[in-house]
Amino acid sequence: MTTEVTTPSLIPTLPGSTYVDEAVFRAEQERIFEQMWFCAIRSADLDKAGAWRTVQIGRESVLISRTRKGGIRAFYNICRHRGVKLCMEEQGEAARNFQCPYHAWTYDFEGKLIAAPNLTKMPDIDRDEYGLVKVHIREYLGYVWVCLADEPPSFEEEVMGAIEERLGSVHAIDGYDVANLSLGRRIKYDVKANWKLIIENFMECYHCATIHPELTEVLPEFADGLAAQYFVGHGAEFGDDVKGFTIDGSEGLDLIPGVGEDQDRRYYAITIKPTVFVNLVPDHVIIHRMFPMAADRTIVECDWLYLPSVVESGKDVSASVELFHRVNQQDFDACERCQPAMGSKIYAKGGVLVPSEHHIGAFHDWIQEKVGDVVPTS
Ligand code: FES
Ligand SMILES: [Fe+2]
Repeated sequence: MTTEVTTPSLIPTLPGSTYVDEAVFRAEQERIFEQMWFCAIRSADLDKAGAWRTVQIGRESVLISRTRKGGIRAFYNICRHRGVKLCMEEQGEAARNFQCPYHAWTYDFEGKLIAAPNLTKMPDIDRDEYGLVKVHIREYLGYVWVCLADEPPSFEEEVMGAIEERLGSVHAIDGYDVANLSLGRRIKYDVKANWKLIIENFMECYHCATIHPELTEVLPEFADGLAAQYFVGHGAEFGDDVKGFTIDGSEGLDLIPGVGEDQDRRYYAITIKPTVFVNLVPDHVIIHRMFPMAADRTIVECDWLYLPSVVESGKDVSASVELFHRVNQQDFDACERCQPAMGSKIYAKGGVLVPSEHHIGAFHDWIQEKVGDVVPTS
C-alpha cells in the first residue's frame, strides 16, 4: 500500500516579527547587505572624472567615484583622520580631489592621501596606508555592484547565477545589451515597508488581478495569478491586441535589436538577491534597486532604460514609463498596507502562502538560514 504525500495548499510564511524587529534588521545589515554583492549605482551616472555618488549599504555609507583614467573606485565614506563623513550629499562632482570638511585631509580620486595641514612635518605618515579604505566593485549590466565583505562571494554564482536560475541561461539576457542602454527615466520611491515584503510581492502574481488592472490588460496570463517567476525561462506573453508594453497597450519604442524572436512580445522578471529586480521587455529594461534604510522603510530607485537612439531623439517614453510606474505604486501601496500588521499579535506566527506563492517559501528558507537565529519567537 502506498500513501500519497501531497503538499498542503497553505504553507506558513515567516513570523511577523521578521519584518519589524530591530535585531533582525541589524542582522540582515551585517549578514546580508554588508556581505553580498549589492547593486549600488548606474555606471553612467558617473559621467566625468571626479563625479561621485554616495549610497547606504547596510550600516555603511559608501562613496563611489570616477577616476581620472575613467575607472570607478568605491570607498568607505569616512575620513581616516577622525572619521568625518567625507561626502554628505547623495551626489556631486569634485574638481580636483576629495577634501575633508573638518581638518582638510585631502585624497585623490584613487583614494590616496595627498595633502593635509602640516603633513610635511609628519614624514612618518604612510600616505597609502592612510588613504580612503577601498571596497570591492564589479561592473555588470551597466551598474556598479559593491561588496563590503573582506572576501567577496562569487559574483558569477550570486549575481549571474540568479539570472541563469530564472532565465535558464545567463546568456538569455545578452541580447538586451543592458549595459549599453540609456536612462530614459528614473523614479525614486520612499516605501514605508520592510524590504522583504517588497521582494515577496515582486515574486508573486496572485495579487495581479486585484491591484494591477493595466498590467493584466497587457499580460493577460497574469490574471491567472501565476507570476512569470514561477516557471524557469518563462516570459509572460503580451495580449493579442497589445502593441507594446505601455500603459494602454499602444505601440512601444524601438525594439532592442538583439532580442530574440522567442523573447519578442514577452515580459521576463528576475530577482537578484538581496535587492535587485530586472524586468525585460522587447523595447526597454526596467531595473529596481532597493536600499533598505530601516526595518519599516526602503528606498527603491527604478530606472527605465531604452536604446540610446530613443533617448537622444527625445521620443516620448511616458506611455511606456507610466505602465510600470503605476505597477510600482500599486505594489508599494500594498506593501505599506501589510507593514503595520507585521507587528500585530495576531500575525506573530505569520500568514500563509497559497500554491501560486509557494516558491516564495524558498526565499523564506534563505532568510531563515541567514537570520533565523535572531527572529524572536512569539
Ligand atoms: S576628520 Fe577629516 S581631516 Fe579631520
Ligand atoms: Fe505587483
